[in-house]
Amino acid sequence: MSNILCIGAGYVGGSTMAVIAQRCPQHRITVVDVNAERIAAWQSDRLPIYEPGLDEIVFSVRDRNLFFSTEVERRIAEAEIIFVSVNTPTKTFGRGAGKAADLQYWEKTARQIVQYADGPKIVVEKSTLPVRTAEAMERILSSGRRGVEFDVVSNPEFLAEGTAVADMQNPDRVLIGGHDTPSGRRAVETIAEIYAHWVPRERIITANLWSAELSKLVANAFLAQRVSSINAVSALCERTEADVTEVARAIGLDRRIGPEFLRAGIGFGGSCFKKDILNMVYLCEHYGLPEVAGYWEQVVRMNEYQQFRFVANMLSSMFNTVSGKRIALFGAAFKAHTNDTRESPALAVCRALLSERAEIAITDPHALENARADLGDEAAKVRFEPDPYAAAAGAHAVALLTDWPQYAELDYEAIFDRMVEPPFLFDGRNLLDHQRLFEIGFNVFPLGKPPLVHQP
Ligand code: NAD
Ligand code: UDX
Repeated sequence: MSNILCIGAGYVGGSTMAVIAQRCPQHRITVVDVNAERIAAWQSDRLPIYEPGLDEIVFSVRDRNLFFSTEVERRIAEAEIIFVSVNTPTKTFGRGAGKAADLQYWEKTARQIVQYADGPKIVVEKSTLPVRTAEAMERILSSGRRGVEFDVVSNPEFLAEGTAVADMQNPDRVLIGGHDTPSGRRAVETIAEIYAHWVPRERIITANLWSAELSKLVANAFLAQRVSSINAVSALCERTEADVTEVARAIGLDRRIGPEFLRAGIGFGGSCFKKDILNMVYLCEHYGLPEVAGYWEQVVRMNEYQQFRFVANMLSSMFNTVSGKRIALFGAAFKAHTNDTRESPALAVCRALLSERAEIAITDPHALENARADLGDEAAKVRFEPDPYAAAAGAHAVALLTDWPQYAELDYEAIFDRMVEPPFLFDGRNLLDHQRLFEIGFNVFPLGKPPLVHQP
């Protein structure tokens, strides 16, 4: 039996530890956070995050071998293995502002560990970190006066929100990086044994610490690059009457390219892609590689351009003004099956339309609360409407911004009847049956395909 601690009860800490607790009943796992409200939510019937399948797991293992607590000090002392999954957002101040990772939460955790540890520990980097962060971690940990031994291991998390539980249960791979020393190898094996309870050994791969840290940034950069690539192609499709879905299908069948992450849309969002690419850009600049930095930075620029393009297209189609017009936004979350709105392109579109003085009604099955918080002062100008039919009532346009599958199942005839003529439908995710919508009477603007517009 091991006492495992996870510092940081967010999307990653909560989901990963719930699955470890389920799969390893012999281990006692505690998740701590400085945010008492978040811990109270993890202990309640309404968990702080929406993830398909997560409630069931948490309710079945909570208070059995999974515990949530705010007692950071005591739990550090008890634990043999400490996962750290605190947030590592983009720095907003000082050197590297707007690109580098803000490691203040991370460093604070390292200092707490060294302060309260009284026996040997394995410290696991679960957060996404700049390459060579473990070096700084080791320096802080070795600064303790009590001579406690620490092994630092990098075990980056590859789960995606909305499929976090499935990704944890059946990962493509688990990556564990450590030092090639006897105690480093032992630490890596201890972490590998946890995953080996349910992950086949051949999918648990090991690497040196720096490769493991860097692989996480590179994985997100490659995935985001694919999204930006297909979005760049969608712009060209719109000028040439090619269809981006047909192009994606044709290229995705090439095994060297593969079919995933080729859905054109309003751009990638979420807490990871932009932050991690910018972090890599900063690292490249730091290591004197401006050409490499510029190459990756363009992935983020293309993403911004795609959002700009989508709104510009709405404006020009709607007679160059949306001022005073009701627009219904279907979706606030950055993708389907999550309540997360961090860096959501839906909210970027919302803000852009507000600046054009449109009247916005936004709907989402799970993310309205977070959308309201993220929009800050601008939330006062927005109507938050759980019912999509009510959001569309009196609207000049519907813009579909999040790929919730239930939006494909709505009664668009009923929606059409509630809207102002001529009704516009902008499908920012290519989720809907465009021909059918056109037949109902909508002017339909898919992404990266020819629009279907009724002639007067
Ligand atoms: P999050 O913001 O949801 O959660 C982080 C939590 O850490 C917060 O609740 C915060 O209060 C807590 N925290 C901060 N400092 C603390 C301290 N000193 N002691 C205790 N708790 C502290 O973040 P997240 O989305 O779970 O991401 C965490 C890390 O995992 C980030 O580095 C992120 O890049 C990485 N990651 C995220 C995802 C994802 O899909 N969200 C996937 C893979 C990796
Ligand atoms: C991502 C990585 O996939 C995951 O491995 C990592 O651990 C965390 O970051 P996440 O941001 O949760 O996960 O979701 P993901 O499925 O990657 O989607 C990111 C964004 O890209 C979303 O806004 C999504 O809508 C968009 N996307 C994705 C597209 O626009 N087109 C696609 O084909 C795929």
